[in-house]
This record gives sequence, C-alpha cells and structure tokens, in this order.
Amino acid sequence: MNAAASALMRARSALTDLHPLPDDIAADAVAGLSKTPKTLPSKYFYDAEGSRLFEAITRQPEYYLTGTELALLEASLPSIAQAIGPGVHVVEYGSGSGRKTELLLESLHDVVAYTAVEISRTALIESTARLSQQFPQIEMLPVCADFTRPLALPGAKRPAQRTVMFFPGSTLGNFTTDEAARLLVAMRQTMGAHGCALIGIDLDKDDALIEAAYNDAAGVTAQFTLNLLARLNREIGSDFDLGGFRHKAVYARERGRIETFLVSQRAQSVQLAGRTFDFAADEAMQVEYSHKYTDAGFNALATHAGLRTTHGWNDARDWFGLRLLQPA
Ligand code: AVJ
Repeated sequence: MNAAASALMRARSALTDLHPLPDDIAADAVAGLSKTPKTLPSKYFYDAEGSRLFEAITRQPEYYLTGTELALLEASLPSIAQAIGPGVHVVEYGSGSGRKTELLLESLHDVVAYTAVEISRTALIESTARLSQQFPQIEMLPVCADFTRPLALPGAKRPAQRTVMFFPGSTLGNFTTDEAARLLVAMRQTMGAHGCALIGIDLDKDDALIEAAYNDAAGVTAQFTLNLLARLNREIGSDFDLGGFRHKAVYARERGRIETFLVSQRAQSVQLAGRTFDFAADEAMQVEYSHKYTDAGFNALATHAGLRTTHGWNDARDWFGLRLLQPA
C-alpha cells in the first residue's frame, strides 16, 4: 500500500461520523425563491467549480482579505501561541487543508490533536490524509458533522490542556448577525469551559476598498456568483439563463455588510424542481452577505454569545483582524 492510501486508512479509521443530514439543494432553492425578495443560500457557492473560482478570487489584486490575513497570521503567531498556551487540540470548521492551517499547526506549542469538522466526507478524508502526512506527530481526529451545531469532540489519546477553535477567512461574515451569534454559541459549547476560539474578521473600512474587493476588474467574483445558478442547473436541472442575470455587490454601511445580488436583466421565468419562478426586469435576488466588523460590533456579538475577546491582532492598516475569544 502506498503512503497516501495508508494515510487515508488512518484518517478513515479515526473518523467520527455524526451522520449529518445531507444538504437538500432543491428544497433550499425552492424555499429561497419563494421568498420576497428572492434569495439563495451562499453555502451552495462551493462546488468544485465554485471552490476553484474562490481560489482565483483570492489572487485578484482587489481581494485584500486572504493576503492580509495570511501575513497577519504569520506575523502574530508567536504571540498567538503564547496567548493560547501549550497542549492544544485544534478544531477547524471546514476541511482546512490550506496554508493557514499549516502555519497554525507549525506554530502552536505542542499540538496534541487536530479535528476538521466538515459535512463532506470525501473532502474531510482527503484533507485529513494530506495533513496527517505533513504532521505525523499530531493525532488526526476528523469529525463528519454540520458545524452549525454543538458537538462532542473525540478525546485525544494524550489529553489536551485546551481546545482551540480556528475559524479564519472572515467566514463568520457570511452568516447573518443572528446566525453568527448562534454559531458562536455552538463554538462556545464545543470548546468547553477552558477552550478558546481564534477567529478571522474583515474590518470595517473605506467603502470603495470593500466594494472593489467584491467587484474585481477581471470579473472573477461575477463568475463566482453566477456559478451558483450554473450549479443549480447542473445538479437539479433548473434552467437559469446565465446571460440573463448580472452580479451586483454593494456595501450597505448601515448594516455593515456587502450585499451580493443576481439581478434579472429582463422579465423571465425559471423552471426549478417542477415549479416556475417569475423574475421581473431588474429584480434583485439576494445571494450572499459578507459582514465587515467594527470592534464595538464584534464585541457585542461575542458578548451576546457568552464569549469575551481576550486578545486581538490587526494588520498595520487595520484592514483585517484576528480575535481570541473565551467563555465570558
Ligand atoms: C471566504 C466566504 C469569507 O465573503 O469574502 C469572496 C467569499 N464571496 N468574494 C467573502 C467571497 C465573494 C468570502 N468568504
């Protein structure tokens, strides 16, 4: 057996499967399109093509988030490691196989175990296999589950001193304020009384800088947004005309978030799951939020979830922040 296959076996044998209910894309799409205004859930952006397009977004000059966070994480890790302390069980929401995960696992003091929490079994097994080859000394304890709910973590063979939940990328910003508060409560329950959470947040800043990040000149973000319709066509046989919708992303400062829409270019009907949905000319369908945080706003959200911010790190321009939270 080759090394990758045996790593996969190791990953598979340690996998805790909480049997999350599979996503029902058709039912979610019908529910969203039946609302006024129409909406579609942003979690469906990330099929294989959407994940590839998101990677391409992170390389656009206007999309400052990924590069800024990576440099901030690199520069802050000695101080982050000190604040977190030794003997940690790192838990990440999402399959977490990227550079940020590697940096964290390399830099924290004595990482005992690593748990990725991911709804897709194949993504979970692949990323765990890769990380277990890179970090053979860290016990891999992947959990297949829906991360929006609290979960009991598998215990490490060598007991950890502390659980640290890692949630980078300002992914929190894709949730509404209510959903984000619920997610933080679930994180607090999962981390336990001595646990902590390291969260990446995009900070409030000049409107033009924020809007440019979601309207790159090369049009990659527009392709990423439109891929949601292409995915629905591929997977559930809907008949969205991709040329009939236009990407629109605006910073709504009063709500502190980028609001992304697909705007119908004309009056048209779409067939989806045996139903017909009518769009008026210029009708805007809401497909994504990306919240931008002030210190006051983020701290209020944390407090609401029974957490408090113990440490914070920002880049030199205060564009992006990392926050360490623990139960209040
Ligand atoms: C990785 C989900 C946080 O909201 O900035 C990028 C996704 N959407 N461009 C973000 C995204 C449009 C991104 N997140």
